Amino acid sequence: MELTAQDVLSKYRELYHDEPMLVRSPGRINLIGEHTDYNDGFVMPAAIDRETVFAIAASPDQKTEIYSVKYDEYYTVDLKNPQRTQAPAWANYLLGVIRQFVDKGYSLKPFKCVFGGNIPMGAGLSSSASVECGFAYALSVLNNHNIDKIELIKIAQWSEHNFVGVKCGIMDQFASMMGSENNVILLDCRSLEYRYSPLELKDFTIVLCDSKVKHSLVDSEYNTRRNECEQGVAILKKYYPSINSLRDVTEAMVRKHQDELKGKVFDRCLYVVQEIARVQEASQDLERHDLKAFGKKMFETHEGLSRLYEVSCPELDFLVDQAKASSGVWGARVMGGGFGGCTINLVKKEDVGTFLAAVKQAYAERFGIAMETYIVNIKDGTSVSKSIEKITLH
Ligand code: GLA
Repeated sequence: MELTAQDVLSKYRELYHDEPMLVRSPGRINLIGEHTDYNDGFVMPAAIDRETVFAIAASPDQKTEIYSVKYDEYYTVDLKNPQRTQAPAWANYLLGVIRQFVDKGYSLKPFKCVFGGNIPMGAGLSSSASVECGFAYALSVLNNHNIDKIELIKIAQWSEHNFVGVKCGIMDQFASMMGSENNVILLDCRSLEYRYSPLELKDFTIVLCDSKVKHSLVDSEYNTRRNECEQGVAILKKYYPSINSLRDVTEAMVRKHQDELKGKVFDRCLYVVQEIARVQEASQDLERHDLKAFGKKMFETHEGLSRLYEVSCPELDFLVDQAKASSGVWGARVMGGGFGGCTINLVKKEDVGTFLAAVKQAYAERFGIAMETYIVNIKDGTSVSKSIEKITLH
């Protein structure tokens, strides 16, 4: 059963007999631009109507306590010296944020916090970034620090790097924090310059197919990919001293030095430079409302993620193949870090029902797994909610 904002609020009232502040922070989709963020490239994410909700208020005593509705578990925090913990794992997302507040000299008063939400975990919708961002924002507001959102994004990312252990890029935290209703974000991950662009899909809609698989080693494989990209840059830098990331590299440069980019490094670099270029072209497709061209690029991205970057898996490849064979689907690809989670599909509205019924059946027959599907709306980023009605959990 899905958690609602009302559940989070009710739990807070039941536990602490107090009226808390409510902060919501969304998950995200990404239209195109995968594994480009930590290579200083471009991405095109948007915040969605699935969120984590925090109910939080100053503590009447000196004890700081966080309660996870999902896990029905408390964690007592040492505000003076927050450290990574072995268990519960969920606490680390929050403890890293607190650590940053402490290290940056932002004072924190003791608090009680209850949180939960309806972003499926492991689906590639950035439930973790939403937790980090929502909590960072909540602490900032509760303590009257009014910290700039960009700084909060970096605090959230720091937590993921250092307390969770995934060397993620900036996309997920940026999208969760900065999302804008009905807009995609065109983000340059090097300069953090961004612009909102209305997502006008007309007869089309975005459909997510959740493979319901999460293959192990996701986090270590993610860090390995990042490392392989860095190796590529180090090798190419010998020939092109001015480059600092794959953003500065062209496909011709990668191809020219293929022999030196050993092991998987050549394939990884080739995918990234192609994807960085693809996102720029895809943003022009969107501006021209050329969804056919845009969708084609989504398929190309999947091909690259599957064959060159190797972050797909049989289940996701199957879902994309099914989509490709369906007449109403113009684009599909694995979304997010990979190794499981969702595919994102660009589907003609009138064909959504037929497409989903067919792919669900085929997936169940092939893998014995009941696929889940989500049709998402694009919403604003992290914010304080004045009333429960404003929180649009399902
Ligand atoms: C995960 C990371 C992001 C990004 C994507 C892949 O979601 O958290 O920073 O690298 O994978 O695009």
